[in-house]
Amino acid sequence: MSSSSGQAIDVEPLTLTRFILAEQKKHPHATGDFTALMNFIQTAVKAVSSAVRKAGIHRLFGISGIANTSGDEQKKLDVLANDLFINMLKSSYLTCLLVSEENDTTIVVEPEKQGKYIVCFDPLDGSSNIDCLVSIGSIFGVYRKADDEPVTTADALRPGTELVAAGYALYGSATMIVLSIGNGVNGFMLDPAIGEFILTEPDIKVKPRGKIYSINEGYSQYWDQATAKYVESKKYPKSGKPYGARYIGSMVADVHRTLVYGGIFMYPATSEAPKGKLRLLYEANPMAFLVEQAGGTATTGKERILELQPTSLHERCPVFMGSKDDVQDVLDMYKSFG
Ligand code: AHM
Ligand code: MG
Repeated sequence: MSSSSGQAIDVEPLTLTRFILAEQKKHPHATGDFTALMNFIQTAVKAVSSAVRKAGIHRLFGISGIANTSGDEQKKLDVLANDLFINMLKSSYLTCLLVSEENDTTIVVEPEKQGKYIVCFDPLDGSSNIDCLVSIGSIFGVYRKADDEPVTTADALRPGTELVAAGYALYGSATMIVLSIGNGVNGFMLDPAIGEFILTEPDIKVKPRGKIYSINEGYSQYWDQATAKYVESKKYPKSGKPYGARYIGSMVADVHRTLVYGGIFMYPATSEAPKGKLRLLYEANPMAFLVEQAGGTATTGKERILELQPTSLHERCPVFMGSKDDVQDVLDMYKSFG
């Protein structure tokens, strides 16, 4: 730190770009392409962050579709975020195929702009929280194309075990990118003063057991027995104190809290939604990758999420993820109910 003007300024900030570059240098054959890809993702995240914070109130006044002062219809925030991600990823010359929650089909990048990466993303997750200023996030998972054949939808239907990287951006009280490139998890906070993501949470590890359960309890009448019994066991423990309940309704915020404080996040199957709600490719898989990389567990209750073989782009799966001992209790419960 240097403080010539009385203000402490880090003269050697460990930025996200610097961090990935240093990681890549450990691999002699690395091309630097992933560092470049992450720069494009960072730019998308910064732009989304600015929009989420309504940092240009006039421009963004009509963000929910109301005309702005110039009479133009403004884009809804989730559409804007999707456009930003797609445009940044396409113009990187590093991707060949994109899967977005907002698009029914895959987005095939123009042949002259194609690169080796496939990115599955949810540009703005937590839609029910957008208009009330509660934390929301973006989620992404990155695969490398497996062969030199022309790209097809099948290239995106890969199990999470094949992810080369995954991350999320949380637009909370600060904006943070949490990223794993397969050797642990690191958190980078956006420093608005310099417009860079700075490593502030190195080597995030989720504690083996927490004290918080997180689930939409309003649907309890639709839960299966294993989920119902598990939640009951946390509320009425045979010994010790009951767990606290926290549920934001934004997966990124709920999972981030789980990584930082420990505990369990759940979006189970219900009688109304037999595969749950969350999408495998761009919600469950990237988050499962991060949770496992942080030392936690991510399961459907019966199977490891990362080992599921996707069969369609927008398929869903039940989700239980977080501290490994807490998730083990759920697994034991599912075993006992057969
Ligand atoms: P979305 O993609 O429409 O935003 O839905 C996903 C979100 C998750 O962030 C969150 O975990 C879940 O929906 C909450 O759903 P519910 O309101 O049913 O509890
Ligand atoms: Mg979503």
